[in-house]
Amino acid sequence: MAEPGDQAASLRKATIDADKFQIQSRRAVCCMSIASGKGGVGKTFFSVNLAVAFAGLGKKVLLVDADLGLANADIVLGVTPKFSLQDAIFKGKDLHEVAVKTEYGIDLLAASSGSKEMVSLGGARMEIFIRELISFAAEYDVLLFDCAAGIDSSVTSFIAAAPQSIIIATTQPTSIMDVYALMKIINQDNLSQNVSLVVNMVDSDAQGQRVADTLSSVSQRYLSRSMDFLGAIPVSPNVQRALHMRKPLLSAFENDPASERIRRTARTIIQRQSALTRIQDIDAEKLLSGLLSHS
Ligand SMILES: Nc1ncnc2c1ncn2[C@@H]1O[C@H](COP(=O)(O)OP(=O)(O)OP(=O)(O)O)[C@@H](O)[C@H]1O
Ligand SMILES: [Mg+2]
Repeated sequence: MAEPGDQAASLRKATIDADKFQIQSRRAVCCMSIASGKGGVGKTFFSVNLAVAFAGLGKKVLLVDADLGLANADIVLGVTPKFSLQDAIFKGKDLHEVAVKTEYGIDLLAASSGSKEMVSLGGARMEIFIRELISFAAEYDVLLFDCAAGIDSSVTSFIAAAPQSIIIATTQPTSIMDVYALMKIINQDNLSQNVSLVVNMVDSDAQGQRVADTLSSVSQRYLSRSMDFLGAIPVSPNVQRALHMRKPLLSAFENDPASERIRRTARTIIQRQSALTRIQDIDAEKLLSGLLSHS
């Protein structure tokens, strides 16, 4: 069994060696993690529907269910994955077999609950997986990570790994507090320079703007950093209806105001191109540590 230090060294090597293995992205990849502090704020809803919106813009999208505890992007998408990411990591299953194609033009890498033994994965196996993941992700235009709730290392690793993170808040004070707590960690540990905010389940645009203003001023005052506001998504009864239909909102109710907002958000992200990166620049080591830190 490899020592953790050996594993880290081997991973670093794997990341750096991406060029050597001639893993070249056909195009730059737009890569982002979707996180929150508090649970149940709509990360999975937003991730899935944002993925569908990107597909509608002609992008090839890979959605990674990084919520190993309560993985449920598959339910929202109405698919039943045969294999999980863990099958790829530990059993060497080809990622092409693990990825589930959906009728919405997006592919899903589903996860299943992990165990502590995962961290004892041999360095050689890790290196192979990292190489496979980098090479596989290079086939896509957009890479989205639907994170677990909370502010533990499984979440912060994904935030550090991706060049951009979108943090979801709601109008509830507990959610706003938790977003601030997450921002504090991102700032303290210098995890990411590119964090933006989406306020979900709002009754009005003004309500969303107020949450954004509050978070932005607190963040500016105590953390000396601003928070880019991507937009607000209205609360909609059609979200539950779509869930029961096991379809993304954008597919079941494409004219719903929440669908329109998510499409607009996708366009904004593409226009800004702020999350564009070379596939080699994604921090694969942190990505894997995010996947492995669940227990
Ligand atoms: N804009 C919305 N309008 C109405 N309901 C919504 C909206 N966004 C999310 N929901 C509902 O809120 C619930 C929580 O959403 P979701 O599972 O996406 O949250 P999450 O942040 O991924 O949760 P977890 O932290 O458990 O992963 C779901 O029932 C979802 O359908
Ligand atoms: Mg979720």
